[in-house]
Amino acid sequence: MTDPLARPDRHLETRLVHEGSFRSEFGETSEALFLTQGHVYASAEQAERRFTGDDPGYQYARFSNPTVAMFEARMASLERAEAARATATGMAAVTAALVGQVRAGDHVVAARALFGSCRYVVEEFLPRFGVASTLVDGRDLAAWEKAVRPETKTFFLESPANPTLDLVDIAGVARIARQAGATLVVDNVFATALYQRPLELGADCVVYSATKHIDGQGRCLGGVILSSQDFIEKHVQTYLRQTGPAMSPFNAWVLLKSLETLPLRVERQTRSAGLIADRLADHPGVARLIYPGRPDHPQAELVRRQMTGASNLIAIEIVGGKAGAFRFLNALRLVLISNNLGDAKSLVTHPATTTHQRFKPEERTAMGIGEGLVRLSVGLEHPDDLLRDLEEALSAVSV
Ligand SMILES: Cc1ncc(COP(=O)(O)O)c(C=O)c1O
Repeated sequence: MTDPLARPDRHLETRLVHEGSFRSEFGETSEALFLTQGHVYASAEQAERRFTGDDPGYQYARFSNPTVAMFEARMASLERAEAARATATGMAAVTAALVGQVRAGDHVVAARALFGSCRYVVEEFLPRFGVASTLVDGRDLAAWEKAVRPETKTFFLESPANPTLDLVDIAGVARIARQAGATLVVDNVFATALYQRPLELGADCVVYSATKHIDGQGRCLGGVILSSQDFIEKHVQTYLRQTGPAMSPFNAWVLLKSLETLPLRVERQTRSAGLIADRLADHPGVARLIYPGRPDHPQAELVRRQMTGASNLIAIEIVGGKAGAFRFLNALRLVLISNNLGDAKSLVTHPATTTHQRFKPEERTAMGIGEGLVRLSVGLEHPDDLLRDLEEALSAVSV
């Protein structure tokens, strides 16, 4: 049973500690981990009623699970979404949100600047099944409008995008989608729900890789889809139930506990990222630094309009192209080389040779990913220690 004291008017920090919790007959403080594949029924009649939906209990962990349900309820509360469904990974969430809506003959429009696997789903996977896709410069509203066809079913974007930190005007694209009779799905990983609320900006569906800031401690994979109840029932529920990318109850428990500290972690990481961005922006080893919290971000006005905070991610073009970037990465002692992000540990990656390696150089250029670009995910270490490590490594670039 859901906490009878849950109140939607509570502050976000409070809801992230309590919302969605229910207690078993043992009255545990911490949420219980129901590590079970299935559930038993008191009678054959009850089993039948569970499968017709007349008895609201659980059946099988591919469909739902009490611990996963607590995580879903807490995530829904975070964005004040009507409904949430958890998935095994962020990519499972992206794939379900898109594939669940389309059939052969339909058309999808997406921003060109996407995480590599998201681009694969849109550009290569969907067309294999007769779903056409058009990639546009997400920053250009006219390009979204021009790409619309009578058979366009959904729009997809990331904002800020991985790894360039380009923004897309979510409210603007939502308007165009609505006029076209299409839906808008937003991958909100980089902004986090703390700093951007796509549903409030007009999106129909928000997806997260919970692997990133939501876990935030490098432990487990997860994904989540947030939307109206109607969207979930129409497009997501059956797809998930029948194809099976379910979140493990164990992972749901880890992620549920992580949500309790999400604001503390992301606010601290973002504060440190702001300090680091300001200190490194004019460093001679840095050709260009892009950070949504700085007034020199190319879309600073849109940042102010659409986001309530910046990000813990910084895009840094290192002087000297790939060689310079590699010298920088290899000279770091505290910041770790890893393709993950949102972690308590500061992590740095070279997208051109890792997350976006499969693209041709000209495709990477069109996405804004240069050979010298590195993506820094600022963690929870003291910013002075991070700055010392980053500045020492940058001095290696010009050697
Ligand atoms: C923006 C974005 N979306 C989706 C994903 C996929 O998430 P997962 O690795 O949990 O499948 C990632 C992972 O790096 C990401 O950065």
